[in-house]
Amino acid sequence: MNTRDEQTILAIETSCDETGIAVLRGTRERSEVLSHTIASQVDVHTLTGGVVPEVAAREHATVIGPLITSTLQKAQVTSDDITGIAVTTGPGLLPALTIGVTAARALAYAWRCPIVPVNHLEGHIYAALMQASAEETAFTMPADAFPALALIVSGGHTLLIRMNDHDTYEVLGTTRDDAAGEAFDKVARLLGLSYPGGPAIAEAALAGDGAALSFPQPMARADTLDMSFSGLKTAVLYKTREYIEAGEEIPVADVAASFQATVVQTLVGKVEQALEDDTYKRVLLTGGVAANTVLRDKMVVMLDQRGVALATSPLPLCGDNGVMIGLAGIAAATAGRTAQPTDVHAEARPLRFRN
Ligand code: KG4
Ligand code: ZN
Repeated sequence: MNTRDEQTILAIETSCDETGIAVLRGTRERSEVLSHTIASQVDVHTLTGGVVPEVAAREHATVIGPLITSTLQKAQVTSDDITGIAVTTGPGLLPALTIGVTAARALAYAWRCPIVPVNHLEGHIYAALMQASAEETAFTMPADAFPALALIVSGGHTLLIRMNDHDTYEVLGTTRDDAAGEAFDKVARLLGLSYPGGPAIAEAALAGDGAALSFPQPMARADTLDMSFSGLKTAVLYKTREYIEAGEEIPVADVAASFQATVVQTLVGKVEQALEDDTYKRVLLTGGVAANTVLRDKMVVMLDQRGVALATSPLPLCGDNGVMIGLAGIAAATAGRTAQPTDVHAEARPLRFRN
C-alpha cells in the first residue's frame, strides 16, 4: 500500500472487557475518525471483581453485530467503501479475542476485503504517537516523532519500548510479574474499593497523603529497565493486616495515595533511566493507567527538566477502543501487513512485545 493511498478501515477491538468498533478514513500521515463506539462490560465484571474470560466473550458476542452495524451507519459508509478490516489478534483473553477475530473473518469473506491483524499494544502506541485534534476526530503524524520511547501501562501490560520508525520496535523493559494496572486492581480489591481499581484508587487518593506511608520500590535502582509490582501489592497487604491486628481502622485514603505515589515514582524513574541510556524525540504514555493524572503530572515535570516532549493518548482513548486499532491498522496496512481471512488467528500471547 502506498503511503498516499487513502484507506477506509473498519476496526474491531475485543481483547478484554470493552467492545470497541471504529471506522477511520485516511493515510498513515492523517486519518479521520468517521465514527466509533465502545460498549463497556465494567458493570458485568464489577460483580466478580475482575474479568472472567468466558463471560467477557459472551458479552462481546452479544453486542458486536449490532455495534458494527450502527457504527457503519453513523460513519455513513457501506461495506463497499471498506478497504480493510483491522482487528486485534492479541495479546489478550483468548475467548474474548476470538469473538472479534471471528467477526472480522466472516466480514472479510463476505465483503471480499483483506484483514489487517493488529497487535493490541501497537494500538495503544498509535493512540499516543499520533496527534489528536481537539475533538479526537482526526489524528496526524507529527513531523519528527522518532525515535520515540513508549511506556505502555495497562491492566495486562507494563512495557518500555523504543520505536525507531513505523513498524520498528524494540522492547527495552517489561514487568517481571504483575502489570501496573493489575496492581491498582488488586490493591483496590484489598482496600474494599470498586472495580476497576485504577480510577477507584485515584479517587480515594485525593483525600490522602502520598507520603504518609513508605512502600518499597522494587527494582528501582536495578541495572535493568524491567519492573516489578507484585512485591508492592504484598507490602500493601501486610500494612493493612497490621492495622487490622492492632484493631485500628485502615486509613484507606493514605494507603491509596502512598501506593499510587510509589507506582508513579517507579514508572517515572524507569522512563528517566531509559532516557539516560539513549536519546529520544518524545515519550509516549499510553494504556489504561495513563489516564492517571498524578502519573501524567509527574511525568511532565520530569520530562520538562530534561527537555523531552511528552505525548499522551487522549483521556477517552487511554483505555481499550477501536480508534487505536484503526490507527495502528492503517499503519500496518501501509507497511504491507495485510492477510487473508484463513491466515488470521487470535493469539493470547503473540511474540511481538511479549511480556
Ligand atoms: O488499557 P486498558 O483499558 O486495558 C488493558 O489493555 O489492560 O487498561 C485497564 C487498566 C485497569 O487495570 C485499570 O484499573 C487501569 O487501567 N486504570 C487506571 C486508571 N484508569 C484505568 N489506573 C490508574 N489510574 C487511573 N486513573
Ligand atoms: Zn489495552
